This record gives sequence, structure tokens and C-alpha cells, in this order.
Amino acid sequence: MQIKPHVLVVSNHWGAKALTPSAGIFVDRQIAALEKAGVRVTTFDIGTSHSPIHIVTRWLELRRHVQRLNPDLVHAQYGTIIGFVSTFLSKPTVISYCGNDLRAGASVSKVRMYLGFFLSNMAALRARAMICKSAQLRQALWWCRHRAVVIPSGVDLDLFSPGPRKIARKELGWELEHPIVIFNVRNDPKNKGLDLATAAMQIVQSRIPGTELRLIENVEPNRMPLYYRAADVLLCASLSEGSPNVVKEALACDLPVVSTPVGDVHERLAGVQPSAVVARDTKAIGEALVKVLLERKRCNGRANVASLSSENIAQRVLGVYRTTLHDTVDGNSVVGKPRAEELTVVTIAEGGMLQEVAGLHLEAFAGYLNALLGRGYAKAFIKWFIKKEGTIAIAVIDGQQKVVGYALGAPVGYNRDLNRDLLWEVIVRIIIRPWVLFDKRFWFVFKARMRNLVGLPQNVRQVLDLPEPSMSLVAIGVAAYRRRSMIGQRLMRAFEDGAREFRMRSLILSVYENAKGSRRFYEKCGWQPYDGQVSKGGTILYSKVLQPSLGP
Ligand SMILES: CC(C)(COP(=O)(O)OP(=O)(O)OC[C@H]1O[C@@H](n2cnc3c(N)ncnc32)[C@H](O)[C@@H]1OP(=O)(O)O)[C@@H](O)C(=O)NCCC(=O)NCCS
Repeated sequence: MQIKPHVLVVSNHWGAKALTPSAGIFVDRQIAALEKAGVRVTTFDIGTSHSPIHIVTRWLELRRHVQRLNPDLVHAQYGTIIGFVSTFLSKPTVISYCGNDLRAGASVSKVRMYLGFFLSNMAALRARAMICKSAQLRQALWWCRHRAVVIPSGVDLDLFSPGPRKIARKELGWELEHPIVIFNVRNDPKNKGLDLATAAMQIVQSRIPGTELRLIENVEPNRMPLYYRAADVLLCASLSEGSPNVVKEALACDLPVVSTPVGDVHERLAGVQPSAVVARDTKAIGEALVKVLLERKRCNGRANVASLSSENIAQRVLGVYRTTLHDTVDGNSVVGKPRAEELTVVTIAEGGMLQEVAGLHLEAFAGYLNALLGRGYAKAFIKWFIKKEGTIAIAVIDGQQKVVGYALGAPVGYNRDLNRDLLWEVIVRIIIRPWVLFDKRFWFVFKARMRNLVGLPQNVRQVLDLPEPSMSLVAIGVAAYRRRSMIGQRLMRAFEDGAREFRMRSLILSVYENAKGSRRFYEKCGWQPYDGQVSKGGTILYSKVLQPSLGP
């Protein structure tokens, strides 16, 4: 069991801090909170240059870094180039998508923007796990959405807290009486909507003379609470955001917010008074600002962001790391204690259930070859087990009829029929996803399948001394959010019962030698390593001799 995961965080903001002190501050704060939670973090700065030579050189340096440090996983803090190169490091990769890596908004050329989206989405295919800062952002993924979890950046609630307006204004040297609107420009006036803010201020000033607009630029991040305390309202007029940190920080200081409907602001401002989410329109923004400024009071926002404390968010990110590593850090369950609710084992049916099982299959085998061929192939693969005589295709459904686990099995020697029947499916998927050809695991499995298909002797060990007939457990998976709540054991019992019904006398499976969590699971279910030998592909065999059923 791994006591402290070692995570290599890849980003490009550390060098940029010399010019912009707040660059990537949310990444730095998340790192600090993760370190507090016991994660060992090292960092790598890929740099901000987009020159291909620079990128390749930094990527090679990053590879050497990974070899030297041997972290448990790599966490790319942003999609585009950072996410893309981080998935070619032979380590499980988690990608955090933050906003302009998936949605339009940054003031860059269209070509650069779409190239960025393309790289972000290519990276999604290879990443083991993905974090999106908002549900809106997750929707922007072209594929693999079901594998992405929504975790906004956290807020340091000790640093960002309400305080007297006058004291803050004195410290900043601001006028004490005038109403003040603050606006975060952050080096991108176009995306942040500075023109809109300036136009809306004319409406405000015509109704409440003396109101000032103060721009927040290059402020030392730890001084930001002073600005939230000193102001009367924060205006966010952005075109696009993931989960705007200024909004959460302002709310933590009980500063009212007027915002355009970007990222997760709807959720953050739900029930907050006074505050408003308004259309991206001068008049709507102006009116909303006037309404807040006429009241001129603090809002009740802090309660809305209490659950987003840096500590809570760090725990959620740690949960993603744990699931990604298929292991636990402190011996506690990743998802909490077992839930004592109705679970039923059923035979997998085509239609909606097949869709759900395919989603689980992709999630359970994310990053492995099995999932690289995509959802269409996963469906064809599972369908083969549903249709074929003598095979097992079962799922566990919960009280809400949601599929939370599945298992597939077939008599030993099934591969030949499967490879033959799915040959065209594989060819079509390779045409659609040619990048799988760059994966060395693909060639390993491809060669083995071809040998099998043309009847050549296999490069795999023959299992000679197990009682026959023998059934292969081909795949087993439990929804990530339901793992460690005994669903796997439930499935395994049903699988073994199914095998007994087919009069099987033994069971066999192959598992990656480094998949420690899965191996522990099989051992808990009474399976034993067959001969301890590791195949060329890095797998080992486990087996179990079936005792006849003792009856109901
Ligand atoms: C392997 C898998 C099916 C287990 O399902 P599960 O519902 O989480 O398993 P259970 O809750 O029934 O766990 C039973 C026991 O297995 C062991 N175990 C399961 N997952 C483990 C993990 N990640 N780390 C360590 N031990 C683990 C534990 O001993 C556990 O008992 P405990 O919780 O009392 O300590 C599930 O983790 C999964 O879907 N993994 C991804 C897909 C996969 O790896 N499939 C097998 C590939 S060959």
C-alpha cells in the first residue's frame, strides 16, 4: 500500500510569475493543500514558448525527469500542450482542464485556439483521469466526458475572509466613501470584457454619481483579500471562464458579485444576496450593478463556498489520485463506507444497459489498450459476450437501476472466435483512431491476436494443470465512485456461480503485474497467482479451482 503518492505536477506558470505574480496561483495553492494532505509533490515547468523545438526539448527533459524521479502519477495542470505531452510519459496522467483549453475565450488567434482544443481532446483519450473546473467545461470535451469529474479550484478560507471596508480602504489608500466596483483584468482585457465593464459603468455613474471602477492588475495574490474587503461589488464580465477564482474569493469575503453566465457562476451565486448573474449586455450589467450598489451591503456568499475550502478540494483531488492509482493512500476507502442498499445481479442486455456497461468498461480500463479503441469497440466487445453461447455477461445494478459493475467471462480458448468475429471492428477503430498505432502495447496485443487468428503457436504460457473445463474472467469493473464497497466481491460470487452452472471446474485470468489493487482484490476473492511468471506484456496469471456449489 502506498502511504504517500508522489505526484509530478506539470504546468507552465512558474517562469511567468516574474511578470505576473498571480500566474497559476490556483495551482500553487492546490499543491500546498495537497502537500498538507500528505501528497508528495514535485513540479516541472514546461515553459510558455510555443516553438516546436522548445516543446520537444522540454518534453524530452520532462521524460528524463520522470525517469529520475519515478513519480506515481503525473498531473497536468491545463490541457493543450501541457496535457498532451504529459500523456506521453509512461505514467498514469491526470489532466485538469481549466477553461480556455476547452472553450473559446482567450485572446489568441483562431488557429491557435482550435489547435489547443484539438490537443486537449487528444490528451483526453490517453489520460487516466480528468478534472474539469466546471460542468460547462466538461460538456466542452469532444469525447470521454463520462470519465471527467468536476472539481473547481478551492478557496483558502483563512486568507479570504470578510473584514471592515474602511480599514481595507485606508490600507489601499482608496477614497473612503465612494461606491467602488472592482474588476479583474488579468492581462486579457478582451476576454475579461473590459469594454463592456467600462460601458456599463456609464449607466452606473449616471444613476449613482461618484461610483468608481477599479481595475485589479498585477496585485500580489496574498493582498487580494484587501481589495475584496475594500470594494462594494465585484464585476465579472468575462466571455468564458472555467470556474472563476475571483468570484469564489469575493464570495468568501462576503463581497457581492455581478457576473455574466460563465463557468460555474450560476451554481456559486445560487441564493446569494445581493448578487446577480446577468446576460453579457451593457444595460443588464449596468442595472444589476446599480441594484447592488443601492443596497450597498455585504452578501451571504461565504456559506456558498464553504464546501470549496482548499482542504476539501485537496481531498477530492486526492480521491482522483487514489482511484487512478487503483490504490489507497491511508487504508481508508476511496469512496467511503459500503452502502447497505439493494444491489441486484442481472444479465447484461443490449440497448441502454449495454451503453452504461461500455461506459464502465472504458472507465475501468482507462489508459489500457482495452479502452484505447473507444466506445464503439467496447460496445461490440461486450455484445460479443452477450450473444455468444456459454459465456458470462453480468452487471450489478443499484436501487436507482444504475449499472455499478460488470463482469465478462468465456471458456478458455475464446480468444480465437473473439478475434475473428471482431476483426473488422478493430480495423475500423484503427482507421478512426490511427494514434493507437503509436502505442507499443497495441503492437504486442496485435501480434498475439494475429498469431492466434492464423493458428500459430501462442507466445503465452499454456495452463496445463488446472482442472478442465476452465473459464476465463475476461473483464471485471466497478464504477470508480462505488469501489471498495464490496460490489466487486458480489460480482465475483455471481461470476463463479455462473461458471459452475456451465460445469466449469476452474477459473483463470490475467492481470497486469503492477495493478496492485486488482491483485489484492483477486486474492481477497480466493484466487491465487498461477505460477508467478510475468509475461512479455507485463501480465501474470491468477487461477482458482472451483469447488462444486453447496446448494442454495
Ligand atoms: C478491481 C475492482 C473490480 C474491485 O472492485 P471493488 O468493488 O472495488 O472491490 P470490493 O469493494 O469488493 O473489494 C474487495 C477487497 O479487494 C481489495 N481491494 C479492492 N480494490 C483495492 C484497491 N484499489 N487497493 C487495495 N485493495 C483493494 C481489498 O482487500 C477489498 O477489501 P476491503 O475494502 O475490505 O479492504 C475495482 O477496483 C475496479 O473496477 N477496478 C478497475 C478495473 C480493474 O482493475 N479490473 C481488473 C482488471 S484485471
